[in-house]
Amino acid sequence: MRKEFYITTPIYYVNDKPHVGHAYTNVATDAIARWRRAQGDDVFFLTGTDEHGTKNQRSAEKVGEETQGFVDKIADKFKDLKEVLDLSWDFFIRTSDKEIHWPGAQALWKKLEEVGDIYWKDYEGFYCVGCEAFVTEKDLVDDVCPDHKTKPELIKEKNLYFKLSKYSKQIEKAIETGELNVQPETRRNEILAFIRGGLEDVSFSRPKDKLKWGVPVPDHEDQVMYVWCDALSNYISAIGYGRDEKEFNKWWPADVHVIGKDILRFHAAIWPGMLLSAGLPLPKSIFVHGFITSEGEKMSKTIGNVIDPFEVVEEFGSDAFRYYLLREIPSDEDGDFSIDKFKERYNADLANGLGNFASRVTTLAEKAEGLAGLLVDEEIQNKITETAISAAKEAERFKLHEVTAKIWALIKFGDGYINKHKPWETDDAQVIFNLLALLDAIASFASPIVPKAAGIIQKSIKKEDGKIIGAQKVVNLFPRLDA
Ligand code: MSP
Repeated sequence: MRKEFYITTPIYYVNDKPHVGHAYTNVATDAIARWRRAQGDDVFFLTGTDEHGTKNQRSAEKVGEETQGFVDKIADKFKDLKEVLDLSWDFFIRTSDKEIHWPGAQALWKKLEEVGDIYWKDYEGFYCVGCEAFVTEKDLVDDVCPDHKTKPELIKEKNLYFKLSKYSKQIEKAIETGELNVQPETRRNEILAFIRGGLEDVSFSRPKDKLKWGVPVPDHEDQVMYVWCDALSNYISAIGYGRDEKEFNKWWPADVHVIGKDILRFHAAIWPGMLLSAGLPLPKSIFVHGFITSEGEKMSKTIGNVIDPFEVVEEFGSDAFRYYLLREIPSDEDGDFSIDKFKERYNADLANGLGNFASRVTTLAEKAEGLAGLLVDEEIQNKITETAISAAKEAERFKLHEVTAKIWALIKFGDGYINKHKPWETDDAQVIFNLLALLDAIASFASPIVPKAAGIIQKSIKKEDGKIIGAQKVVNLFPRLDA
């Protein structure tokens, strides 16, 4: 039976153009979405941009542009990633979209207020614009935010607050029991420890005279929503909350929110609190990935080591970039992008790996006779089934680098099989048929990772009534790079 599967990326700030970290979140989510589609699920893959708040507004001011025009331009760059990274998202939400997003965000706000979870409070404290979050002394190291290396700003104003504390125990329990499945285990423990410390209420609005760039709070004209309250609600506004109940009920709750480790608290504490308050089901799981460094260092404009996904893809192609991100970066830890490592992986796993295997097998198959009607040998079929099972097991836990490794191990096996049986000497149709069956399986397993190459291979394999009967030669899928 077809099953709905709803998966999301975080929505990206539009203060600057996309870098490799954003590319990673996108590609990881895309690989999962493609894998679920291949399993037969009815998938809805959502991504988009987080366009309000101080950070975006100030970035526009800095270059002297009108805010909407500025965010439009950067949002377009994030949209361009679809083609560049070969992403398969179904919808791109923008929080400045008054038709799609605002009704949902405002309907959710009203629900929170209706149940009495919104109240006025005088706030005096610190705000980190980089994090778009209120911070306390214990979040700081030497008086600065450890992530952004900037001093938070002192804010003194009257805000509307959300009673998050009320839901502390319920959220803790949902994560403990796995009703809300936070992966990997290390992140689950981290968030549980944080919640057990007791969740505090959160300032959920900003006065319009201090920050005008935001979603207006219903019935409080002088306030706009706190950017995270606005942003988190994208996950339901995009699928129809407050607009199209039928569509909303079709997709909610989300199966997976994919996020980076820096935004865990917002997703595994504040967001569940909002949903509980509104009487909505919690997402089923949150998959938390690590951070990518560039040549061993944190990416920064000052160091000048920010990796531009557009440039990498221009030079090496989207498949190669996707492969590197999915194979070399451990999906549950931090990882590094290094150009030498990239080339090494490319030559070893793509040029000499998948590309070479596809070319060897299809070259043999193109001139082979008597393939039609053969059945794959049990040894080969078992190997294929084993890989399918073990890769699926890793995919269920979002261990994407392990999934990729399992699939590429099947290529190694195929290479070994060719070398052992030397079909170029024997022209043994059964051996060649086995190899084609292997290649066919590899292409289908690898298609969420390297969709373009997998598609070319799949097209080259000739079938009749779903049975393999031959192939056309595929050459130079991944031309070798000079060392
Ligand atoms: N706008 C918020 C998310 C709101 S979701 C309701 C935000 N945006 S962001 O643009 O700063 O980050 C978006 C995603 O990119 C996050 O998952 C973040 O973890 C990820 N990355 C940003 N830099 C990264 C690396 N250097 N490495 C890997 N991912 C990183 O947060």
